[in-house]
Amino acid sequence: MDRRLICALDYADLDEALTVLDRVKPYVGAFKIGHGLVLQHGLEVIGKIRDHGVERVFLDLKFHDIPNSVALAVRHAARYGVWMMTLHISGGPAMITAAVEEAKTCREDEAPLLVGVSVLTSLDQHVLRDHLGVSRTLETQVESLSRLGTECGLDGVVCSVHEARAIREAVGHKIIVTPGIRPSSGETEDQARVGDGRCAIEAGADYLVIGRALTSSSDPARALAAMGLEPSGFPA
Ligand code: C5P
Repeated sequence: MDRRLICALDYADLDEALTVLDRVKPYVGAFKIGHGLVLQHGLEVIGKIRDHGVERVFLDLKFHDIPNSVALAVRHAARYGVWMMTLHISGGPAMITAAVEEAKTCREDEAPLLVGVSVLTSLDQHVLRDHLGVSRTLETQVESLSRLGTECGLDGVVCSVHEARAIREAVGHKIIVTPGIRPSSGETEDQARVGDGRCAIEAGADYLVIGRALTSSSDPARALAAMGLEPSGFPA
């Protein structure tokens, strides 16, 4: 198992998710769930996954709302015992601070890690500039949001492999999570900023979120090797 690896369970069907979970569990340290499973099964799905022998559940609902609403979401979700959860840094400093303050009210052993999404890994420079009206470079935007998030007290940030090295300088010892992990010759699908696992670790990522490139394979060790993550590197 490599505790740096997080498997994204992007399913709505729980049986399907649990089948993948059983197959991948020996290799990863956490499982991430999002809108698919939560909208279909409610937050109780967190307990079902934990009952399946998973210690770390990452709730990726990417909260983005007014401060009061996000604080409410953090309070409610934390009761289900999640290890890590996400919000969008672009929700602004008051929203982030409200979430951070709410997380601090949790019992110390139950407080979730709060990580902020900088710029989605599905977006590229063109979309950012021509559709979202952000005139600065994508790298500068990721860095600026990462600084804002961590200055407001987040435990870490989510960015692509491409920005991870620069973000390490910006956020110091805070957590860096990188999705968009693919084999170097693989399909990018709906992602725009991708990299393989070896590059992510070399760039200083603490955690790698891996979804379809891992979950669609019947042989997780082989899938990870194709992403530069050698099975020999996994402690038994
Ligand atoms: O299948 P794939 O590896 O592309 O899945 C990536 C996962 O990481 C998805 O669950 C997606 O919601 C999540 N994610 C992301 N980009 C971010 C934050 C989270 O792709 N910036």
